[in-house]
Amino acid sequence: MGKMIDAAIGRIEAAEGLDRPGYTLGKAISRTGQVAGRPSKRLANALHGRPYGHPIHPIAVTVPVGTWTLAFGLDLLAAVGLLRDRGASRAADLALKAGAAGAAVAIATGLADWQHLNGRDRRVGLVHGTVNTAALGLNLLSVALRGRGRVAAGRWASGAAFAVMGVGGYLGGHLVYRRRAAVDHADRSPEPREFKPVLPLSELRDKVPHRVGVWDEAARQEIGIVLVKQGGRVHAMGARCSHAGGPLDQGWVLDGTLVCPWHGSRYDLATGQPASGPSTCPQPRYVARVQDGTVEVKREQEPGDHVVTSDTLAGRPRHGIGDGVPHRTATEVLGEHHEMLRRLFGRTLALPGDTAQRHELMRTLAAELDIHEAIEDAIFYPAVQAVSEDVDIAYAEHGVLADLLAATVKFPLGSAEFEEHLRALHASFLHHAGSEERSMFVEAGRLSDGELRALGHKLETMLDNERTSRFRRAFRELKISLLEGV
Ligand code: FES
Repeated sequence: MGKMIDAAIGRIEAAEGLDRPGYTLGKAISRTGQVAGRPSKRLANALHGRPYGHPIHPIAVTVPVGTWTLAFGLDLLAAVGLLRDRGASRAADLALKAGAAGAAVAIATGLADWQHLNGRDRRVGLVHGTVNTAALGLNLLSVALRGRGRVAAGRWASGAAFAVMGVGGYLGGHLVYRRRAAVDHADRSPEPREFKPVLPLSELRDKVPHRVGVWDEAARQEIGIVLVKQGGRVHAMGARCSHAGGPLDQGWVLDGTLVCPWHGSRYDLATGQPASGPSTCPQPRYVARVQDGTVEVKREQEPGDHVVTSDTLAGRPRHGIGDGVPHRTATEVLGEHHEMLRRLFGRTLALPGDTAQRHELMRTLAAELDIHEAIEDAIFYPAVQAVSEDVDIAYAEHGVLADLLAATVKFPLGSAEFEEHLRALHASFLHHAGSEERSMFVEAGRLSDGELRALGHKLETMLDNERTSRFRRAFRELKISLLEGV
């Protein structure tokens, strides 16, 4: 099914015959805007959603989608006799009219965004808009038919519109989720976290954008930054335009803004905010300074970012807990548990077939994996969250491990499926433990020795409790039995 839909959409993407009508419509919109001048620019910005910092089109479409779905539901219930015909018919009529009003706004906002699409996206966008306009036409026909007392025919028309709207919605989803139209295309790397020299000031010419790059080790890629010197100040923002990825370093400076060469979005040099669309999204910002004739930049982290920098570490409260506590550190405790799990995996994988010994080993392995997840989730991750950015991924990896474990134990021990899943579970664990040891455990070293030892003590206590508590063991046994389907 998915393949057939992909093939159908692929045909739309390749349909060069759509370029001529697309070009004509696009030119008509832009010419109208050019003739109308400044007011039309303001209207276009409002339709893009620039003043609200978010595209308006996805919000506008909720009105026709919601109301037309309501009308379809009411018609359906009335048709099967679950609602009184007259009341349902009036409510459906009202919903269709409200949806038509919302659809007009959705079409206006959609057209404003569509005219800045290119190539295959523009073709799909054209079909998406045409299909949804057809849905609007069918619904208006339905309203007219209902007004003349032809309720049954009106219901058929709006029923057809509902199906057509589904096709239009699918194409819209394809444009956003598959083709990444209208999503943020800027590189939002946290690098560089501290001031980093990037260019001799003498190489910057006034009001001429200049691209420099910094390396992001986690993303394994170079991040482009565009520098602009103006009025004795150096400004810096992401070089990749958030609208569709245009090269801002090849743009130009105009009236205190940097203009993108692709669709003309203008970004305020001082703030990175879009002063004019189609972009609605601010550019990544960098603090720039000049030290000994060299421009240095530092990423200005964004609200909601979880980025560990020297500033965030300095602001972290130090409790001094655990100082002088004679326990092993948290990373020693967890490292040892990793090693035990590695050995358990090794022995379980080395034993062939379906033997009682292997069954026992598998149950121990499942229990220890469960305990490992519990102690890290409850104690270690919350404690290192402030000093490590790896925690979110580590939680997600626990989810992958738990899913794989649940899938593995469902197969008969020794079956081909069991062996394949056990190897996958092993690979998942090795990745998880290895990346923790290489990165998160190193970053945990930013905690004081006392804190790490106090954490180690807590981890050991919980490990003991998890293993020895009768209630917890019984619960774990039950859980594994349920997963095994015993
Ligand atoms: S890529 Fe479209 S305005 Fe920059």
